[in-house]
Amino acid sequence: MRLKVQPARVPLSGEYRPPGDKSVSHRAAIFGGLAEGETEIHGFLESSDTRATLAAMASLGAQVSESGGVIRIRGGRLNAPAGDLDLGNSGTGIRLLTGALAGHPDLFGGSIRLVGDESLSARPMGRIIEPLKAMGADIESVDGHAPLTVRPRQLRGMVYEQPMASAQVKSALLLAGLNAEGATEVTEPGISRDHTERMLPVFGARLAHGECRCRLDGQQRLQGTVCRVPGDLSSAAFVLAAGLLVAGSSIRLTEVGLNPTRDGVLRICESMGAEIERSPTTRGNEEPAGHLHVRFGKLVGVDVEPEWVPLAIDEFPVLMALAASAEGTTRIRGAEELRVKESDRLAVMCAELSKLGVCVSEHPDGADITGGPVRGGRVDSHGDHRIAMSLAVLGLVAGAPVEIDNAEWIRTSYPGFVDDMRALGAEMEWL
Ligand code: S3P
Repeated sequence: MRLKVQPARVPLSGEYRPPGDKSVSHRAAIFGGLAEGETEIHGFLESSDTRATLAAMASLGAQVSESGGVIRIRGGRLNAPAGDLDLGNSGTGIRLLTGALAGHPDLFGGSIRLVGDESLSARPMGRIIEPLKAMGADIESVDGHAPLTVRPRQLRGMVYEQPMASAQVKSALLLAGLNAEGATEVTEPGISRDHTERMLPVFGARLAHGECRCRLDGQQRLQGTVCRVPGDLSSAAFVLAAGLLVAGSSIRLTEVGLNPTRDGVLRICESMGAEIERSPTTRGNEEPAGHLHVRFGKLVGVDVEPEWVPLAIDEFPVLMALAASAEGTTRIRGAEELRVKESDRLAVMCAELSKLGVCVSEHPDGADITGGPVRGGRVDSHGDHRIAMSLAVLGLVAGAPVEIDNAEWIRTSYPGFVDDMRALGAEMEWL
């Protein structure tokens, strides 16, 4: 499906509440399915990615029910699924579940196949398969890619030094560690999102964590609990960017997740000159959240600090769109990980931005983007939800309409995006 975006004629304004956090929703579904008793999830993200994970937990024997916007999962006893587990487009779903199943005692002696769509089947799985095998797992892949066949068996805990900061790898190993003999310890060279470390103790797990290091005791059972999913900063980032770009805009974003291991996008926008007011609403060990107020302002190009890359890993497409409209050049380096997301986000953003007349040069681990006038035209999402939404936001400040092919992929993380943008005053329509 093609999405047509008109250059904004009026400022964007109003109050906006983002959809539930994708990372936290995946974890709530998986942990709830593993836990004994009932887990209640408030604010679960309605999207094809998170639905795939929930459906996988149901196929594994968890009882899932929904009423009044609350999802209830009764877990604790898994059984072999009748068919393949299809995780669709979701890297988080397939990687975390593979870890969770690899040593699950209820499934010993069985064989489970995890599959995904074309994009997911092209993404690297060796990063979880190798350390899980070192714990004793039996996992077969197609040359390091999905489909993955897991034959659950007894695992041993281990100390693993991750070669790169990755919350998905860390979480897969911790989930495997829950059923392993002995403790599992994971260290990272940089900070990655810590939702798993925050949430597992809420489900009763014994886990210690500090910056870039965590340790989990083996052979633990999780207990059902109540999960409150904060708004997704990665989805809110599109609205935030639109507010910064469209002249005269003023938007209040409410109940946004502000976990400091995820807020790199705010820091990078601020370094570009954005003024974003933050008012925290929750503190402590819960997922931090708060309100943001964003107003239109002049942005300047910056050199993005490499240590900020993992803290804003999903926001680079929209940051590249902002850079296209900023004054001067933005230089991104140390971001080669963007090449193995839902698409090769460096190559794809550079190609699509240049179709709109933006001056870009691609580097093996980043890009240089020089801001200037953006022209209208026809671009493509390459099957990547965040590329589609980033180009839609940039279309608001283009000289003529921007049409985005294959924009239906937005459903992966944010089915309400177009409606939310329209409610703030943007003109977008499906063709
Ligand atoms: C995620 C971790 C990140 C992120 C992804 C969600 C998670 O991936 O890009 O969208 O929920 O753990 P990596 O940990 O592989 O960098």
